[in-house]
Amino acid sequence: MIDLFAGPGGLCEGFSSVVDGNGARRFAVKVSIEKDPIAHRTLLLRSIFRKFPKGKVPSCYYDYVRGRISREQFLAHPAIKDAAEHAAKEARCAELGVTPPKEVDDWIREALGGQTDWVLIGGPPCQAYSLAGRSRLRGKDVEKFEADAKHFLYTEYLRIIQEFAPAVFVMENVKGMLNSTNSGKRIFEQILADLKAPRDHLSYEVRSFVVHKADGELEPIDYVIEADDHGIPQSRHRVILFGIRSDVAAATKALKERPESFLLRKLTKKVGVSAALAGLPELRSRLSKEPDSKEAWIGAVRESPKALTGWRLSVRKDIEEAMEKFIKKAERQTTFGAPFVEAVVAPGGYMPQNLQDWYLDPKLGGVLHHETRSHMRSDLHRYMFASCFAATQKYAPDLRNFPPKLLPDHVNVDEETIPFKDRFRVQMGKHPSSTVVAHIKKDGHYYIHPDPGQCRSLTAREAARLQTFPDNYFFEGNRTEQYGQIGNAVPPLLAKQIGEIILDFMTSPRRR
Ligand SMILES: C[S@@+](CC[C@H](N)C(=O)[O-])C[C@H]1O[C@@H](n2cnc3c(N)ncnc32)[C@H](O)[C@@H]1O
Repeated sequence: MIDLFAGPGGLCEGFSSVVDGNGARRFAVKVSIEKDPIAHRTLLLRSIFRKFPKGKVPSCYYDYVRGRISREQFLAHPAIKDAAEHAAKEARCAELGVTPPKEVDDWIREALGGQTDWVLIGGPPCQAYSLAGRSRLRGKDVEKFEADAKHFLYTEYLRIIQEFAPAVFVMENVKGMLNSTNSGKRIFEQILADLKAPRDHLSYEVRSFVVHKADGELEPIDYVIEADDHGIPQSRHRVILFGIRSDVAAATKALKERPESFLLRKLTKKVGVSAALAGLPELRSRLSKEPDSKEAWIGAVRESPKALTGWRLSVRKDIEEAMEKFIKKAERQTTFGAPFVEAVVAPGGYMPQNLQDWYLDPKLGGVLHHETRSHMRSDLHRYMFASCFAATQKYAPDLRNFPPKLLPDHVNVDEETIPFKDRFRVQMGKHPSSTVVAHIKKDGHYYIHPDPGQCRSLTAREAARLQTFPDNYFFEGNRTEQYGQIGNAVPPLLAKQIGEIILDFMTSPRRR
């Protein structure tokens, strides 16, 4: 596998998790390329981790992620020396389109060692054609938008296809890519045409992972995968393309004989937020803009019911009762967490067994990145109201349901990403969450914890759980950088299911 625009490595983590009956990995990441130095550090660390079989990762890894030894001490540790050397060749910090193409090609050529049966994966950055990016950039300067290099970063992905002709490629992107136009032309149509015929004597079938139709009959929307249909505890709609080199497609009988088996299985039951977060220690949030202490925080939480005075009566009583109950619960919270919280993580029957197997690592002995943010007093009141409303009314309120006293007086919203009325959003325990996007690094209002007794937004680990990163996945950087990496990724558990399809395809007999 070669992974371009690799981010923190969600896509390659999923593929790498495809194992045979003996637990041996069926895909090896040969090169992954990421320009952001912090995301690259995450990628490098995970690459070291993956050099060891499940359960055999040296204890110095755990010492490092728990903060007991420094990164330098970890990297110098004899138990991981060889793994670190290999990982440095695999995870490359480079900017595609800027780093000389010859350098990139040399890494890939050397890594492939003449192999032709390999998979190219990756998600060229989406900013210019994500809905958010589009209105932001367009609003400012149309010409700049038209010329924006990010718009065309997929051509770097295309260039690698032209140069190395992988047997298969998997390309992920935001749904906004389907509607975006440049100089009046639909970008998606252009991208699809380029991918189908990258150069003379090289062509690809571009299939969908969710809809089977005869070649040429797929509509753009058929390429959209809804992650919550496939066991991911999050509503996340993304375009994912499945490219197969035409000669390989023609030679693989299974593609015609059993096309349905190369589609993702749609599950009838969705996984809710509470199941995904089960077993994580409860935490209180903290106060910002004034000194924080347990007493000051609970004092602020206790004020929440005052916001309801004079407000409409029909649901007020329910919410007041809920507030009273959950304030008592909040009084019992003792900690706001830490980069590593020592704990026994035992979700019991609240989390399905397959997810326990996926998330948990008993060697970790606790929870990483589980530290709450600080919130303004007025936001604590909004969180308490919104989560009690959701707990009693069984749906998440938007600003139209808020009592006037809780409406924000000035609105500082990233309107393109999150609609104004959804400025504050409680995640409902029984349902998949809303999409975890990189905006979560800016503030947590859109990601309010369903438990009013914690009165807070989600921690980075909770966001990582919704994105299905295993608990032992460590994100480098400060908390803001961690949130950003998490929001950017493909959910690894979804990527694993895609990897299983690709493995089935690649190992199906081919006509000579
Ligand atoms: C949407 S994220 C990819 C997520 C990844 N597929 C995953 O599953 O974790 C896109 C990444 O591309 C990186 N990127 C943007 N421009 C780049 C460039 N020119 N070269 C390399 N990486 C780039 C960004 O820093 C970002 O981490």
